[in-house]
Amino acid sequence: MKVSIIGSGYVGLVTGACLADMQNNVTCLDIDEDKVKSLSLAQVPIFEPGLAELVKKNIDLGYLEFTSSYNNILDTDLFFICVDTPNDSTNKPNLTNLDAVCKTLSQLPIHDATIVLKSTVPLGTNNRITNFFLASGLAVDVVSNPEFLREGSAINDFMRPERIIIGSSSTKSVQKLQTLYRPFSRKSNKIISMSPASAELSKYAANSFLATKISFMNEIAEVAEKTGANMHEVRQGVGSDSRIGDQFLYAGLGYGGSCFPKDINALIHFQSDQGIKSNILQATHEQNSSMEYFFTKKLLNYFPDPSKTKLLFWGLSFKPNTDDIRESIAIKIITALAPEFLSIGVYDPKSLQNAKEEMELIPNLLYLDNKYEQIDEYDALVICTEWKEFWNPDFSRLASLKSKAVFDGRNILSRDEVEENDLLYFGIGT
Ligand code: UGA
Repeated sequence: MKVSIIGSGYVGLVTGACLADMQNNVTCLDIDEDKVKSLSLAQVPIFEPGLAELVKKNIDLGYLEFTSSYNNILDTDLFFICVDTPNDSTNKPNLTNLDAVCKTLSQLPIHDATIVLKSTVPLGTNNRITNFFLASGLAVDVVSNPEFLREGSAINDFMRPERIIIGSSSTKSVQKLQTLYRPFSRKSNKIISMSPASAELSKYAANSFLATKISFMNEIAEVAEKTGANMHEVRQGVGSDSRIGDQFLYAGLGYGGSCFPKDINALIHFQSDQGIKSNILQATHEQNSSMEYFFTKKLLNYFPDPSKTKLLFWGLSFKPNTDDIRESIAIKIITALAPEFLSIGVYDPKSLQNAKEEMELIPNLLYLDNKYEQIDEYDALVICTEWKEFWNPDFSRLASLKSKAVFDGRNILSRDEVEENDLLYFGIGT
């Protein structure tokens, strides 16, 4: 099939590359001409495992191309809109980019086309966009097909989805998308058809529920610290109940990234607009924000004179396998602690450059290329992201830390093993 992807950011690129890999003819459009030039040379500006390779392979095979001109996508009849919809300062999603795309599409000769909303959009957007196209005299179907990709495993999530939600009232468009998604749904039917309004809410509800699981376990972790219970054991005890499930029960510094915080806030904003009291979502958000203080308090309590103390931070991205630092709890903690401490050394396998740009105004930060660089200069190690390379540290090198303390914000080390190596361990409910 011929497919156009409008917006070649994270979601658009993954969608485009994966659809091209199924031998669809895919054209990805972006208004940023420099980006289009580098993407055409298979230079992918974000780190996502497997993505650059998939883009290159499909450019070489002729299934994937990039453009910044709408004239080059006129012969498709399936348009995926994948532009970003960031929240503004009042937590309302900013739809300037989405509206600009729809305005341009409405001026093109694309009658009977299917327009697929892949970006996470505010509830009611499908209805609003459908009415916009009707008013502009263009007969198109607007379908809501939310994405469920996780950064760091997006290619796998796209290729092996747990479900594909198609929100549409048009049989013709549903059939088109069923054909397109058939290769990803071979073993069992992954496609769930529903109304556009249900599709939009399913996306928000799924992300909010997962975020709530995390906040719930973080609240229990604070209780565990008072009783001597261990969250590794509690997680197994709780997660073995199939009604609860064993995923997303990891206590730690809380959730970050471009999705959970944004989606929860957007839903709370919607509730407030509609006069609905936010009980659970507001609590989830507050609990998550409190983790940063809970953890910084641990460090400040432990070091009575932070102005003489140097900290070494491992992990800056909001989760492993990505260079994304949006809403990274590590960055928030470092920003809060830097004025108190003598200096902070930071290391991350992929996001050092992004972090440098974000924290350029903080004077006492040192960006390290090696996680053990001058480790004997530091008082304590603080782990904020669970990159695989942090799971089995060289304890003989950690032994050089001046106060022998390891603060594990993701509970990846074993207390017993750390203590056997004559170090002090501080986890989150572990
Ligand atoms: C999330 C959803 O998992 C995807 O299904 C969805 O498509 C995506 O948002 C989106 O809306 O675009 P993502 O933000 O990439 O994906 O990352 P997750 O793996 O969900 O992790 C989110 C945050 O929760 C991370 O900061 C992670 O460290 C934290 N987390 C996750 C925990 O603290 N504990 C857990 O048990 C799991």
